[in-house]
Amino acid sequence: MKRRMICSGVEWLGAVDWNRRLFDSLIPLPDGTSYNAYLVRGAEKTALLDTVDPPMTDVLLRQLADVPRIDYLVSHHAEQDHSGAIPIILRQYPEAQLVCSPKAKTLLIDHLDVTAERILTVEDGQKLDLGGKTLLFLHTPWVHWPETMCTYLPEDQILFSCDFFGSHLAFSELYAGDDPYVLQAAKRYYAEIMMPFRKMVAKNIEKVRVLDLKYIAPSHGPIYDRPQQIIAAYEQWVSEQVSNLAVVAYVSMHGSTEILVNYLLAALAERGVRVQKYELTSTDIGKLAMDLVDAATLVVGTPTVHGGPHPLVFAATNLANALRPKLKYVAIIGSYGWGGKAPEQIQQLIPNLEVELVGTVLCKGLPRQNTLEALDVLAHQIAQKHAALGQLP
Ligand code: FEO
Repeated sequence: MKRRMICSGVEWLGAVDWNRRLFDSLIPLPDGTSYNAYLVRGAEKTALLDTVDPPMTDVLLRQLADVPRIDYLVSHHAEQDHSGAIPIILRQYPEAQLVCSPKAKTLLIDHLDVTAERILTVEDGQKLDLGGKTLLFLHTPWVHWPETMCTYLPEDQILFSCDFFGSHLAFSELYAGDDPYVLQAAKRYYAEIMMPFRKMVAKNIEKVRVLDLKYIAPSHGPIYDRPQQIIAAYEQWVSEQVSNLAVVAYVSMHGSTEILVNYLLAALAERGVRVQKYELTSTDIGKLAMDLVDAATLVVGTPTVHGGPHPLVFAATNLANALRPKLKYVAIIGSYGWGGKAPEQIQQLIPNLEVELVGTVLCKGLPRQNTLEALDVLAHQIAQKHAALGQLP
């Protein structure tokens, strides 16, 4: 794709990666992604904001073929999907200074072997004048790493936000418009990347929401031409409010845990609790993470394997703990053959979650009537908790 004009002196460039299916060797990318960079040209100076993932460097170099000089290469974030092509751009433009936050300086040196002499660090609120275009740097830590910052261009009311507000979407339309799928993709991205830092993200939202904004231009996914929509969505996601949703994540080896899950799911639904079921041998963990953004309850279902939870349950619970969703309640259900400590081990896996354990229902082998009755009690307790939160319809 060629460079695309956003407004006079400001262009999108970068790479759309339609085929990528996994990020960080962890995160599923059902819709690919993009690595957006931006070129800002003032009357006197030219700045390139961010670069691309290293395998896409040739795309960026072709887009820059007719750009004779870059004075500033701004790095908002040292992660390689945005910074990976920095060494090649610095070689191509020997006059360019690499502009970043003080915390990014050591990361860029450590990860990319950039020489310190090429780096100009900028403080929060510092400006660079390009001649009729001003780059105002805003330190926004933990969207996604501790060094992250954004750039605001007041003359054109554009916030260049890098990972902040991004979405893993390959696109042909440069602008998000009203497309609800972009918001869904942004929610998935928030869940995977931003949710562990929810309280810091909230502070950064406060910092940018006071700006006059025509566009938010992230470094993944389309540009927001209705920026208040994505800001409002983020405000909802980082808020303390949870929804009437129980996420059931489970594995069943020989069908007993599946019976428990299906019984509890129906019992919750009968009581007005919305349920989303995730069978972990085939689950898209990004979708599971997205539901954890505002779910009130997590139900973990597991058979007992060698005295503990199934390894896939172990991994999913560990991931939920790392993502730190604002869950309020957790319940554990499952079946065992002759004993084990699966519930105790699951509880030990979630120290980051500020949750109340509503109940544990276990059975030996197949569930009998007393187990099903215990599941009814558990469903009733979860429904009561949701009602107390004002979440039942
Ligand atoms: Fe898109 Fe944290 O990198």
